[in-house]
Amino acid sequence: MTGRERMLAALAHAPVDRLPVWMMRQAGRYLPGYQALRRKHSFMELVGSVDLSAEISMEPVHALDVDAAIVFHDILIPYEMMGCRVDFVDGQGPIIDPPVRTMQDVERLAPPSFDEQIVVVRTLARLREQCADERAVIGFAGAPFTLATYGIEGAMSKTRSHLGAMLADRREVVRALLDRVAPVLAGYLIQQSRHADLLQLFESHADILSHDDYADLALPALRTVVRQVRAACPETPLILFGRGLHTIFDLIADLDLTAYSLDADVRFDAAALALARAGTRPVLQGNFPPEQLLADPAEVAKRCAAFLKERAAELGAADGATLPAGWIVNLGHGVLPQTTPAAAKAFVETVHGFRQG
Ligand code: CP3
Repeated sequence: MTGRERMLAALAHAPVDRLPVWMMRQAGRYLPGYQALRRKHSFMELVGSVDLSAEISMEPVHALDVDAAIVFHDILIPYEMMGCRVDFVDGQGPIIDPPVRTMQDVERLAPPSFDEQIVVVRTLARLREQCADERAVIGFAGAPFTLATYGIEGAMSKTRSHLGAMLADRREVVRALLDRVAPVLAGYLIQQSRHADLLQLFESHADILSHDDYADLALPALRTVVRQVRAACPETPLILFGRGLHTIFDLIADLDLTAYSLDADVRFDAAALALARAGTRPVLQGNFPPEQLLADPAEVAKRCAAFLKERAAELGAADGATLPAGWIVNLGHGVLPQTTPAAAKAFVETVHGFRQG
């Protein structure tokens, strides 16, 4: 099987010849090619160039032999398309200027009209050509609530004090922002599906709302995105990643997602059970702890082998099968910048060599 076939088979719960694997944030700061480009260009220059973005996306494919390429881009770029200044400042993280904190701020966000000429779509077309049938090509967007928290804070924030204040006394502004970005994100993903084999939504901040607040505020907007994407491209698999996703399985199980990407500390038997109870046979993605990639390559291989054995046992293989179906191996969240390419390669090789029993 090719990497592309393996990824799509896992997403369809079909048998695979080896477990498919890619890593969230695999195209980025821990790779020497990216670092060299980044010394010459700003982040916004890189995401503005089809040539450079495609080159960055392909670096982990060549260096690590992962089964999928993810388009080089960022979840915050839609704010730029809605008229904000978006910048990524060294040592400070992303800036969204002006931040979105009042009803007027929300109304100022101009819903863009996407077409096949936007850079992310042209980069995906290039990746599709370069990957041919060998690798899956992944498009992505942030989920509405995660995007909203960045827009509200305007910068990296550990305390998320603006969001906290707005949840207390301006919930209608938060709701209006979510309503504003949801159809934008859906349109953005639908354009990406022209060339992407699958799409992933990043709900990186799912864990900062209470269960009731998630149900009340974040869920309706997420539902809008999933519904619109499903209606426009029903064949394209859709994965939802979330920090703390397992705490909202009851809310998301009926959303018609293809797969769930889980935090490192979540057991697969418990996850499958919780999702099955809500009526779905889930495909799971994850969830090796990214911190464990900071060990030396031999140690990474050892820990990865133990992790694979444990998760495979939790999933259980069908009679006679040596590999469990419905699993894409990945990390519990993004690869850390301090990771060495050798450690990342040891992880991917161990996954590809894995057999149960
Ligand atoms: O392989 C890939 O995943 C590359 C494409 C990609 C980037 N960002 C490039 C990037 C993807 C899928 C993202 C997703 C993203 N961006 C998320 C969701 C995943 C997660 O980590 O939870 C979030 C929350 C963002 C927002 C963002 N972008 C932050 C907070 C930062 C600064 C800190 C950091 O993690 O780097 C960015 C910048 C960013 N996005 C970089 C890259 C390679 C680093 C930019 C640099 O070179 O300075």
